[in-house]
Amino acid sequence: MAQQNTNPYSSGKTFYLETFGCQMNVHDSEKVIGTLQQQGYTQVEEEAAADLILYNTCSIRDKAEQKVFNRLNDYKKLHAQGKRFGVLGCVAQQEGEKIFERAPYVSLVSGSASYRKLPEMLVQLEAGASRITGLDDRQTEETFETEFTARSNAHRGYITIIEGCDKFCAYCVVPYTRGKERSRKSSSVLAEARRMAEAGYTEIQLLGQNVNSYHDPEGKKSFAELLAAVGEVPGIVRVRFTTSHPRDFTRDIVEAIDAVPALCDHVHLPIQSGSSRVLQLMQREYTREQYLEKISWIKTARRPISMTTDMIVGFPGETPDDFEETITLAAEVQYDGIFAFKYSPRPNTPAIHMSDSIPEEEKSMRLQILLDRQREIQRINYARHVGEVMDVMVEGHNHARGQVIGRTSQNKTLNFTTSQPILPAPGSYLKVRVTRSLPNSLVGEAVS
Ligand code: SAH
Ligand code: SF4
Ligand code: F3S
Repeated sequence: MAQQNTNPYSSGKTFYLETFGCQMNVHDSEKVIGTLQQQGYTQVEEEAAADLILYNTCSIRDKAEQKVFNRLNDYKKLHAQGKRFGVLGCVAQQEGEKIFERAPYVSLVSGSASYRKLPEMLVQLEAGASRITGLDDRQTEETFETEFTARSNAHRGYITIIEGCDKFCAYCVVPYTRGKERSRKSSSVLAEARRMAEAGYTEIQLLGQNVNSYHDPEGKKSFAELLAAVGEVPGIVRVRFTTSHPRDFTRDIVEAIDAVPALCDHVHLPIQSGSSRVLQLMQREYTREQYLEKISWIKTARRPISMTTDMIVGFPGETPDDFEETITLAAEVQYDGIFAFKYSPRPNTPAIHMSDSIPEEEKSMRLQILLDRQREIQRINYARHVGEVMDVMVEGHNHARGQVIGRTSQNKTLNFTTSQPILPAPGSYLKVRVTRSLPNSLVGEAVS
């Protein structure tokens, strides 16, 4: 999470911010932190030390949403001490003013599209207002850009290139919480990438709910061209992008990875289900076969591109045969990682009206079967790296184990030892020989 930053504007006001959910939220929090600091607030690491307590929330599944309300209940005591509370992000946008009923001591509720108004909302808060909302402009054309972004890592940073989603998959809250799809100008993305490179960043991760649905408002660059252009910014060594939507995944993305060394060997391409029948019920607008064709482009690339995915088990109407198709698809693709979830009915979505008739135990069983099979696939995939020399970026040190933590271009963790007396610093790049593998990480030794 974001580290504390020295704040030149500090005037004694403090805030605590906790982030739930996806990388979009993590990056939004970096922008919120920068905005608050500019308004004279200093970030603190504990609720007890803060004047203002903010939760940047996620509502993708019911459990994520419940976490926030549990947190708010836990802190009634702090409210009695005069602390103010704000709920930001996707639960804020989804629940709106209902949050004030469920948690009456919350003073501020704001969805992501209203963060531009945070400075005004803070003024109202400081003047003692109690029910401040920023909920009304989800349809805004503006993306939340700020010159004050307080990035939490000095070497690797996010850039949002597209916000929102117009795809309305039957199960998903994102179009309702993040609003309609809107892309940022390619010139603005590239300007930020250059500024980051000048500030010493070497890795950039381009973000979007569907990053490859990018549509340049200036009409200058396709997504693949933008990827390549960011990869060619002097000083940038690695470029990642997430999440890609299969429907908009075009062959030129693979060609760009083959052509531009800085683009990383990794594509995250969520399938959700291996059954075309279920995909249709989900309104994903692609079939198993169409998805597998895109996978074949990735597999036949010159570079060894790692593939990961998201899957939902127990979607309404998913039969044992449908589920079996998810299992066979995972076996066919041989992913390096999957994020698998039990279907969770969500407010406002069309699927909430479908009968969620698969018992919870059956969903849990399907999830476990999928994860067990995937573990075996990963064990074999990871074992193939033993003996290889891979480039890693150093992320940190595990002093207890005497290991350096590295990340490969394929986004795999490679923990390694070195014979050098001084450990390589976070952000440095070096070559590491893989000596051992686990289902989720690699172990190795630095090549001197
Ligand atoms: N835009 C991306 C996904 C973003 S949401 C895409 O379309 O692929 C991240 C993941 O959360 C999804 O890929 C899906 O697997 C999961 N998810 C979304 N809604 C869910 C729900 N109602 N229940 C369970 N998992 C869900
Ligand atoms: Fe949700 Fe579908 Fe949009 Fe992804 S594409 S964010 S799953 S609605
Ligand atoms: Fe969650 Fe919102 Fe991201 S619902 S997954 S924080 S877009």
